Amino acid sequence: MCGIVGYVGPRSVKDVVLNGLRKLEYRGYDSAGIAVLDDGKVKIVKAVGRLVNLEGKLESHPVAGRVGIGHTRWATHGRPSDDNAHPHSDCSGRFAIVHNGIIENYLALREELVAKGHQFVSETDTEVVAHLIEDVFNGSILDTMVTIGKRIRGAYALVVISKDDPDTIIVMRKASPVIVGLGNGENFVASGIPALLEYTRDVIVLDDGEMAVVRADSVECFNLEGQPIGEKETLHVTWDAQSAERGGYPHFMLKEIYEQPKAIHDTLLGRVSDDHQQVILPELKWPAGYAASIDRIHIVACGTAWHAGLVGKSVIERLARIPVEAEIGSEYRYANPIYTPGTLVVAVSQSGETADTLAAMRLAKENGLRVLAITNVVGSSVAREADEVIITQAGPEIAVASTKAYTTQLVTLYLLGVYLAQARGLLLDGDAREILEALSNLPQVAEQVLDAASQIQQFAIRYKDVEDTFFIGRGLDYAVAMEGALKLKEISYIHAEAYAAGELKHGTLALITEGVPVIALVTQTHLYDKTISNIREVAARGAYVLGLAWVGDADIHKTVDEVIYLPRTLPLLAPIASVIPLQLLAYYAASSRGNDVDKPRNLAKSVTVE
Ligand code: M6R
Repeated sequence: MCGIVGYVGPRSVKDVVLNGLRKLEYRGYDSAGIAVLDDGKVKIVKAVGRLVNLEGKLESHPVAGRVGIGHTRWATHGRPSDDNAHPHSDCSGRFAIVHNGIIENYLALREELVAKGHQFVSETDTEVVAHLIEDVFNGSILDTMVTIGKRIRGAYALVVISKDDPDTIIVMRKASPVIVGLGNGENFVASGIPALLEYTRDVIVLDDGEMAVVRADSVECFNLEGQPIGEKETLHVTWDAQSAERGGYPHFMLKEIYEQPKAIHDTLLGRVSDDHQQVILPELKWPAGYAASIDRIHIVACGTAWHAGLVGKSVIERLARIPVEAEIGSEYRYANPIYTPGTLVVAVSQSGETADTLAAMRLAKENGLRVLAITNVVGSSVAREADEVIITQAGPEIAVASTKAYTTQLVTLYLLGVYLAQARGLLLDGDAREILEALSNLPQVAEQVLDAASQIQQFAIRYKDVEDTFFIGRGLDYAVAMEGALKLKEISYIHAEAYAAGELKHGTLALITEGVPVIALVTQTHLYDKTISNIREVAARGAYVLGLAWVGDADIHKTVDEVIYLPRTLPLLAPIASVIPLQLLAYYAASSRGNDVDKPRNLAKSVTVE
């Protein structure tokens, strides 16, 4: 969370930093700020609220220079305010710092610094670092940061500029992502790739416990002891600059919903043999016989990625007959999970930086388990720490509400399920071909589902002022119902609850009253009759039921008030088809309520704190 940008070079620092922050604003939007070395002085301008407020303020408080840093904040310590906005400075105003993460021992440090006479202006944990730098500065900012690294505890990506080193940005990382973008006669720092795409696609990813001294013509990397660590690998990012733009859509979320046919296509590309008989996953560099030796799988993930994991559990169990647990990262890490030597852990994360998912996978690694990562971001922490990585090809996902990341995670989990089943000799050739042909056809299915957008929009507008909604389904439909409910809550702020359709009568049915909208998913053929009975139970209590069913289902309209027909695919693959209307429903409900769809209140895109 929090977006960080730094720039050193000949361009307008203000423009590069603001541009980068615009691309990272989805990471936090409580306040924003910029610090520039302007005419030998550290000049800081900051403003509470969205980036646009900072942009306005900069008109009356201009800044110019060759070196600068900026920040867009997701508040943890201290409410959103001008004072709590980053960059923070020390008493002398010689240093400016921006920070992503949490300094856990900040209270003790603050007391110590106050006792020494330092004056604090904010309630943040970050400001202690600025004063600590001032306190220990010995003429060398690198040495000073080595000392700082020994004094602070917690998670941080810290980016510092100093009046005494006017052409330099210092970056320091522990448990919070930060990258250096390489330019020609200029260099960049950022907490996420989208900030850099307009300028460069060559990046160095700092690892935990590393620092970088970034100048216009050089990048030197060190460990936290200040010892040089030599040249680090340069990663080339394939995302293009336009993929991080809205491209004519009113919101990133809508654009990303519409990008799903392509994202699914790109994720499948090269991973299914031409004859649809084999899954090709060269990323899985498992020893011979490993796939057959896996005796359980733990999928660890958070939020939408966890919902993808729930689908993955069902699919892998069904196809490969391996017991699978889909666990929430923040629970798993404290649950003392039971492992066998044959347990494979699969970490699913769009950003690859979610703190709880990372902690869960680190726990597995500490226990000697093999970890496979499914992530969208090359070079992310999850990607770097896993034993094997499959990159989903969704392209940058900017909207806080995850859409194309989810469908591409599903595609990857389907591929994994078929791969494991084949490796264990469990899938007949004909069955594999049927599934792989249907998988290859999913981009077209997604395209056709999008045709229902205007029907969904009308439904959403009609029900935009309700307080409660329910999403019901059985089997895979229940897993998708959970994702549909999360999406609606997250951006429209309408209360939504997902329920296993057969479980309603054990309590939740009491909440069904006249006119309450119930979205019922009816794609699981073997559960059709049971689901229909459950829909009748809510309809009998006055619910208005919107059904999602296969095109050609001639009976569904007898049970529900309104139907969205889905283009046919295998029931196993239904989640890809059924989630898209639910994403659109959430989108249109939120936009018709006038909400800031891409930046819902209280949330941030990647949750890098526990
Ligand atoms: O980057 P990750 O996939 O690890 O993020 C996990 C969740 O924070 C994320 O899916 C969140 O639930 C989305 N905002 C939901 O739309």
